[in-house]
Amino acid sequence: MPLDIVLGSQWGDEGKGRIVDLLAAGAHIVARYSGGDNAGHTVTIGDDIFRLHLVPSGIIHPDVTCVIGNGVVVNPAVLLREMDSLAAKGVDVSPDHLKLSKQAHLITPAHVALDGAQERRRGQEAIGTTLRGIGPAYRDKAARKGLRAQLFAEPETLADAVHEHVAECNELLDLYGEPLLDAAAIAAEFAGYARRLAPYLVESTPFLNKALEEGQTVLAEGAQGTLLDLDHGTYPFVTSSYPTAGGALIGLGIGPGAVRRVVGAAKAFTTRVGGGPFPCELSGELAGRLRGTGEHPWDEFGTTTGRPRRVGWLDLTILRHARRVNGLTEMVLTKLDILSGLPELAVCVGYELDGQRIDYFPSDVATLSRVRPLYETLPGWEEDVTNARRPADLPENARRYVEFVARNVGVPIRLVSVGPAREQIVEGW
Ligand code: GDP
Ligand code: IMO
Ligand code: MG
Repeated sequence: MPLDIVLGSQWGDEGKGRIVDLLAAGAHIVARYSGGDNAGHTVTIGDDIFRLHLVPSGIIHPDVTCVIGNGVVVNPAVLLREMDSLAAKGVDVSPDHLKLSKQAHLITPAHVALDGAQERRRGQEAIGTTLRGIGPAYRDKAARKGLRAQLFAEPETLADAVHEHVAECNELLDLYGEPLLDAAAIAAEFAGYARRLAPYLVESTPFLNKALEEGQTVLAEGAQGTLLDLDHGTYPFVTSSYPTAGGALIGLGIGPGAVRRVVGAAKAFTTRVGGGPFPCELSGELAGRLRGTGEHPWDEFGTTTGRPRRVGWLDLTILRHARRVNGLTEMVLTKLDILSGLPELAVCVGYELDGQRIDYFPSDVATLSRVRPLYETLPGWEEDVTNARRPADLPENARRYVEFVARNVGVPIRLVSVGPAREQIVEGW
């Protein structure tokens, strides 16, 4: 009855979507456990590029059931748009193949408006959120006044709940000097979503646990990354949920005894979107080289917002933090191909704080912005690695890079990706 978890080890966008698509081939169920449509997970199959925000990345596999778990916050307008665009590409998004937890909380236009208003009020201190209403939706959940997907099965209660919710958000929007929202219009909109989404509702905790009891494999799909975790990330420059392994258990209602693998997706360098400290951040020509210009779909521009991502060298202090917080059993290193052609590669092997070497990732951003990264330089490689499929196909320096990372993080690297396509995976380490 195994539960395997795939999560982000850095600041998100590590390539979780493509790893989940790959591992889904051996799973019965893929379940998203946290976040909302702030996530953008890319799955590339042949010429088709699927950019998924809410629908789990196992959806392309016809035999895998996909579940949007209780820990997810769901904007129903975005979910329906995504389902329609998948259906247009011939993907089965019927209730047999896709299910929505009754306990998942809903994101409304009022949450989106509040996210924008609060970011504007923060001015220079803005978090750089995706403006998808994520923070306000989780705040309502924690304040015990959120709207759960269950309401889609109770149209009258839904209408009352939406009216009450919009009236309360309008008080805040008024305080912020923002335009007010029309509760009746939103209630009517949500009544339409309820008609379409009610057949997808599932009592997800028994559904998932029963599958595990029957010996099925459940793959938990993380969103965001360890450093965006509300508790274990670079607070307050984080998201409002728990992308870490503990979040998978709470976000799906599964106990720790079921866990078999905890797979940390890690990019071969580091990226971050939005504000907050980033010790190994690069600027200038080298940053441009790692980011790309936007001409390739995999260049470092946000899948959800299109914003250029900040980039830096690989930081092993971050990966060791991810190993500890998540209990990683293995890592997958992605985008190794992007490093081809760089003569030398710096890897941050530790931090110095006030002249002392420290062996942990500081929990507060003031301290973190004072650390000095300590680098080791590894030789690069010239060769194109995109056709490598076995470790022996890689240039020696590329193999050494991977082995250096695994050794210094203390977690085996089982897979290395060398391009966005399903088959661009180096296996057999
Ligand atoms: P996620 O949020 O963790 O699922 O990652 P994103 O989809 O936001 O960003 C990863 C980007 O890198 C996507 O465009 C992927 O198609 C692409 N990608 C994933 N693995 C590789 C790889 O090994 N090489 C290259 N060049 N692109 C990759
Ligand atoms: P995936 O799943 C990268 C970042 C935002 C911002 C912070 C808070 O594709 O890896 P939010 O809208 O969540 O309140 O924004 O978190 N962020 C992500 N960065 N990848 C993501 O998801 C992200 N989801 C949120 O940029 O800094
Ligand atoms: Mg992403």
